[in-house]
Amino acid sequence: MQTDIARAFDLTDRAAVVTGAASGIGRAASILFAKAGANLVIADRESGALAETASEISKLGREVVPVVMDVSIRSEVEALVGTALDRFERLDVMANVAGIMRNAMFLDVTEEDLDAIIGVNQKGVFFGCQAAARAMAERGGGSIINIASAGMDSPAPDISVYAMTKAAVAMMTRSLAIEMGPQGVRVNTVAPGFIDTGMTQRHWIDGDGNQDLEARDTMWGQMSARVPLGSIGQPEDIAFAMLYLASDASRFVTGQVVRPNGGVAMP
Ligand SMILES: NC(=O)c1ccc[n+]([C@@H]2O[C@H](COP(=O)([O-])OP(=O)(O)OC[C@H]3O[C@@H](n4cnc5c(N)ncnc54)[C@H](O)[C@@H]3O)[C@@H](O)[C@H]2O)c1
Repeated sequence: MQTDIARAFDLTDRAAVVTGAASGIGRAASILFAKAGANLVIADRESGALAETASEISKLGREVVPVVMDVSIRSEVEALVGTALDRFERLDVMANVAGIMRNAMFLDVTEEDLDAIIGVNQKGVFFGCQAAARAMAERGGGSIINIASAGMDSPAPDISVYAMTKAAVAMMTRSLAIEMGPQGVRVNTVAPGFIDTGMTQRHWIDGDGNQDLEARDTMWGQMSARVPLGSIGQPEDIAFAMLYLASDASRFVTGQVVRPNGGVAMP
C-alpha cells in the first residue's frame, strides 16, 4: 500500500466538481482541491462570487470551469457533470456542498419554505449523487462527498426542516455507498459544526453589508461555549476533511459521516 503522505492526499490531474463554490465551505474546498492538484468545475447560482473563486483557482495554475446553475433542477445538475466529462474526460470527485437554511419554528414553516429547503439540500444532493455515481461507475470509480450538518445530530429550535434534510443526506449517503461500493464509487458525508460562512454571517451582516460586531461577538460566544474545543470553525476546517475523503488517503472509507464540529455533537 502507498504510504507516502503527500501522494496519498494528492489530487494531481484529477477532475472535481464542487457545488456551492461561490462562498464559504464550497469555495474553501474548491481552492484546497486545486492546491492538491485537481482541475475543477465549480458551480453556484451566484455568478459574481463564483467568478472570484474561479480566479483564485486559476492563480494556482489549475484549470477551472465556472458554471452558474441551480442544484435543485435535475437537468442543470446532469449538465454540470456533463461539463466535467466534456472538459476533463473524467470525474474523480463530486462535492455536493450547496445548501440553504431558513429559520422558522416548526408550526410556522410554510409549504414554500419546506419545498425550497428540500429542493436544494435534499433533492439537489440527490441529483448530484445520481449524476456523479453514474459517471464514476462507468469510469471505474470516484469519491462523492455530501455536506450535512451537526444540526442532524442535535435538535435545535427553528431549524427543523434544515435538520431533517441533513439527516436525509446522511442516510442517502449510506444507501448509495452500499449500492456503489462494488463499482469503486465511495460516498461519504461531512457534518460540520458552526462555521464562519455566509450562512452564519447573515445573523450579523445585513443585506447591504453592514456589520453588527456586537451581535457577532454574542453569537460566536454562545456557539463557542457549547463546543468542547471552545471555538467556532472556519471553512478550511471542513475543506481539510473533504480533501481526506476526496483523496486516496480515505480509499477504505465509504458510507460514513465525518464530523469536524469541535466536539459539539458526538453521536
Ligand atoms: N456554516 C455552517 O455553520 C454550516 C454548518 C453545517 C453545515 N453547513 C452546510 O455547508 C454547506 C455550505 O454552506 P456554507 O456554510 O458555506 O454557506 P454559504 O451560504 O456561504 O454557501 C452556500 C453556497 O451555496 C449556494 N447555493 C445555495 N442554493 C443554491 C442552489 N440552488 N444552486 C446552486 N448554488 C446554491 C449559495 O449561493 C452559496 O454560495 C451547506 O450545505 C450548509 O448547509 C454549514
